[in-house]
Amino acid sequence: MSILKVAQMGHPVLRVPADPVSDETLASDDFQRLLDDMAATLGEYDGIGLAAPQVHAPLRACLIGIVTGEPGEAERLRVIAAVNPKLTPLTDETQVGVEGCLSMTDLRGLVPRRRAVRLDAIDRHGEPFSLDLEGYPAVVAQHEVDHLDGVLFLDRMPDLRSLAFAREFARYGVEPEEPQEPQEPAAEPAP
Ligand code: NI
Repeated sequence: MSILKVAQMGHPVLRVPADPVSDETLASDDFQRLLDDMAATLGEYDGIGLAAPQVHAPLRACLIGIVTGEPGEAERLRVIAAVNPKLTPLTDETQVGVEGCLSMTDLRGLVPRRRAVRLDAIDRHGEPFSLDLEGYPAVVAQHEVDHLDGVLFLDRMPDLRSLAFAREFARYGVEPEEPQEPQEPAAEPAP
C-alpha cells in the first residue's frame, strides 16, 4: 500500500463532479489498489474520511470512518468504503458541527448538516449495502459525498466568521453562527 498525495484546495480535481465507478473499473486491480492506498493515506494523516478526488482520482468512491468503542475503551475507527454512494436525508433536523478537511489542512469551520442520513452504496466487491447514520458519522458521510460533487465544506458554511486555523481553533474555539447550547468544542479528526 502506498500513501498518496492529497490534493489541496485550489486543485481543479476538487471542483469537478466525479465519474460513477463502472463494473469494469470496480473489478480492476488499479481501483482495488486505489481503495487500499486511500485507506493507508487516511491512516497516515489521521483523517476520518477521504474521497477519491482528494487523491486525484475523479471517481465516485470514498472512505467513511465511524468511531466505535464504548466510552472509556480505546476508540477504534471502522472504515467503510462506499462506491457510487447516495445519501437520503432521514430527518429535516440539522446539526452544526466543526469540520476540517485533509484538502484544507489546518482549517476548521462550523457547518450545518443533516442530523441523520441513509447511505446507499456498493462495497469494493460490488455488493450493495445500506446504512443509517446519525450524528458525527452522518456528518462525515455528507462531507465525503460532497467531495464527489466538487463541493468543499467552506461552500456549506453560512457564516465564514467561524473559519479558523486549527491552532487558533484549539486555543479559542469558534463562535457558532446562531445561539446554541454551550458545548465543549471537540477537536474531531479532519474528514
Ligand atoms: Ni474533506
